[in-house]
Amino acid sequence: MIISIIGAGSIGSAVARSLAESGIANRVIASRRHSKKIMHLKDFGIEVTNDNRKAAGEADIVIICVKPRDVKGVIEEIHEEIKEKIVISMAAAVSLESLKKIAPEAKFVRVMPNLAVLVKESFSAYSTDKDISSEDKTAVEKILKTLGRIVEIDERMMDVITALSGCAPAYLSFMIKAASEACVKEGLPEEIALVASAQSLIGTGKLLLEGELSVSEIIEKVATPGGVTEEELKEMNRLQIAENIESAIRAGIEKSRRISEELNRSLTP
Ligand SMILES: NC(=O)c1ccc[n+]([C@@H]2O[C@H](COP(=O)([O-])OP(=O)(O)OC[C@H]3O[C@@H](n4cnc5c(N)ncnc54)[C@H](OP(=O)(O)O)[C@@H]3O)[C@@H](O)[C@H]2O)c1
Repeated sequence: MIISIIGAGSIGSAVARSLAESGIANRVIASRRHSKKIMHLKDFGIEVTNDNRKAAGEADIVIICVKPRDVKGVIEEIHEEIKEKIVISMAAAVSLESLKKIAPEAKFVRVMPNLAVLVKESFSAYSTDKDISSEDKTAVEKILKTLGRIVEIDERMMDVITALSGCAPAYLSFMIKAASEACVKEGLPEEIALVASAQSLIGTGKLLLEGELSVSEIIEKVATPGGVTEEELKEMNRLQIAENIESAIRAGIEKSRRISEELNRSLTP
């Protein structure tokens, strides 16, 4: 299998590295216009180019990681090279319908990863167009699993998942910053506050995913009546933190829907 990544920026370079390190591809090719900026990828056995058509032409599977506004131009450029091939788009907001209209003979998969692809701990949700066979899906899943955890979703849920897991590294970091700053003000060294909260985030994630504990069981086990956690949760309830988080996520979903509608309207005549 030869896999080409077009748009090897933050996400694309990490995808190229994960694929090269996993050994699932015979060749991994990474392309961007300023290819000098990714020469370090050669150390991982990745071929580097600024020739999108060559990269797409040599590949069995093409992964597109350019910004949403650049997707149309890139697909138009490589449309001859991607006929009958699987093309995985990681661009936010660009629908399968729009992708298919730009290159009707390609087979598309739309993925919403998150920044944790950099450490192979992404949560990647994907949807496929009707031409993707079950054999194609197996190949796609093999690729996406090198980046972390995956799940197939109805494409209509992409805006929701964007606001939830696509944005999560940012809003969870925002929460870590607020919590650790409170402790730094009390004299705790900043690096300890950061490690304490980040490791606690990893640990809580593992308790939920691997520890067979539900959200309520975790809360119940930690929040002893009359204790410190209970006091924190009481204050969070008084400040209506849950309602405010829900409102923030809803704002994200609505924004994602507006961006998707505008972008896809501009992509399809
Ligand atoms: N960052 C996130 O947290 C995140 C999460 C989920 C999804 N995504 C999606 O992932 C995609 C990439 O995001 P990113 O954060 O990695 O952006 P990025 O760092 O800006 O990477 C995009 C890359 O595309 C390259 N590019 C632009 N035009 C090109 C062309 N015509 N041919 C080849 N390469 C081209 C750019 O390099 P040159 O200028 O050198 O060409 C740039 O390095 C976006 O569509 C975004 O919606 C990102």
